[in-house]
Amino acid sequence: MYYIGAEEQQAVLKVLEKGDLCRYGPEDSTVSNFERDVEEKFNTKHALATNGGTSSLIVGLYAAGIGLGDEVIVPAYTWVATPASVVIANAVPVIAEIDNSLTIDPEDIEAKITPRTRAIMPVHMIGVPSNMSAIKAIADKHNLLVIEDSAQAIGASYKGKRLGTHGHIGCFSLQQSKIITTGEGGIVIADDQQYADRARMIHDGGNLWGISAHSDAFFPGMNFRMDEMRGAIASVQLTRLDGFIENMRIRKRKLRQAITDVDGIELRKLHDEEGDAATTMVFLLPTPDLASKFGERMSEYGVGAGPMYSHGNGDKHVYPGWEYILRKKTYHPNGLPYSHPSYGKIEYSDRMCPKTLDYLGRAICIGVHPEMTDEGIEKVSTAICSAANDIF
Ligand SMILES: Cc1ncc(COP(=O)(O)O)c(C=O)c1O
Repeated sequence: MYYIGAEEQQAVLKVLEKGDLCRYGPEDSTVSNFERDVEEKFNTKHALATNGGTSSLIVGLYAAGIGLGDEVIVPAYTWVATPASVVIANAVPVIAEIDNSLTIDPEDIEAKITPRTRAIMPVHMIGVPSNMSAIKAIADKHNLLVIEDSAQAIGASYKGKRLGTHGHIGCFSLQQSKIITTGEGGIVIADDQQYADRARMIHDGGNLWGISAHSDAFFPGMNFRMDEMRGAIASVQLTRLDGFIENMRIRKRKLRQAITDVDGIELRKLHDEEGDAATTMVFLLPTPDLASKFGERMSEYGVGAGPMYSHGNGDKHVYPGWEYILRKKTYHPNGLPYSHPSYGKIEYSDRMCPKTLDYLGRAICIGVHPEMTDEGIEKVSTAICSAANDIF
């Protein structure tokens, strides 16, 4: 879901007319202005724009000092970039179950903690907040860092505070399938000055261009910089964000109301309904078999919907599809980080998180667009009621 209008076109043309395409050329950089806009909107001290969500996760992990010998707990349901970024940071991802909110299950986080655990990465999948109170309590108890993967949940909040600001570091994606977009792009936010400085250095060749208060701490970095055209688009998109989210919330509320009494349907648990920024509405059926039948009936009623996971479908949002992670394949010929002696035997299997496969196998996901009409809502809710009537 995305919308690009005349304002974005004008903003890009302005950059092209000026001719400074790199953020470190112009006096009045669009990328720097976007970072200030994010700080204000998210009520956070430091924002850094990057060239992607994956880049933001890598920057976040490096900024937190995660590396060889560390383990990071990630949910079994997330885009493969989450565990992949942990491996790129030379650490090992430990995979935890999700619960009926389709976000990481705090109970399984506790069960997966070892003396090597350094961080938890909650992922607010399809715009819905993870259980941040429980996650922060566990992190505090075990002295762990929390790096929020908010790639799919920009603008969402939990208990009145925007997602990405609950942990030590928050990471976002502005890739085209997200709520707002620059085609490719990302953001890293942090309140802590040290994390923010380290993130800026890592994303910019070890701070090749900027001026840091920590110049004695310089170290080699990469190039994950956002360019000026994307900075210009990003600021306009940010002004649209809350409107998109509110319009989706109004439509989801209507849909939820319309199906609330349908027997056999359990709505996805929302840890904070007020903060939800989902572009979908998700509910669970009693079994995967019924979910398949339900999907077939929905198609007959003209609404595309089916179970979110089926065995062997290769979806890289669900851990059995993370082939290179499960096989512990890395860029390094000796298999680092997994082969490092500080790790015991790390075991993965495509059956290791059965609860996750069960939830996703019986979950049905319906797309909700901010401009969905009342007729569209009526069509979807009628299809849901009719399909449920047919199969139960
Ligand atoms: C949960 C999650 N994390 C990370 C990413 C990576 O973002 P990008 O595609 O911008 O690199 C995505 C992108 O889809 C995502 O959904």
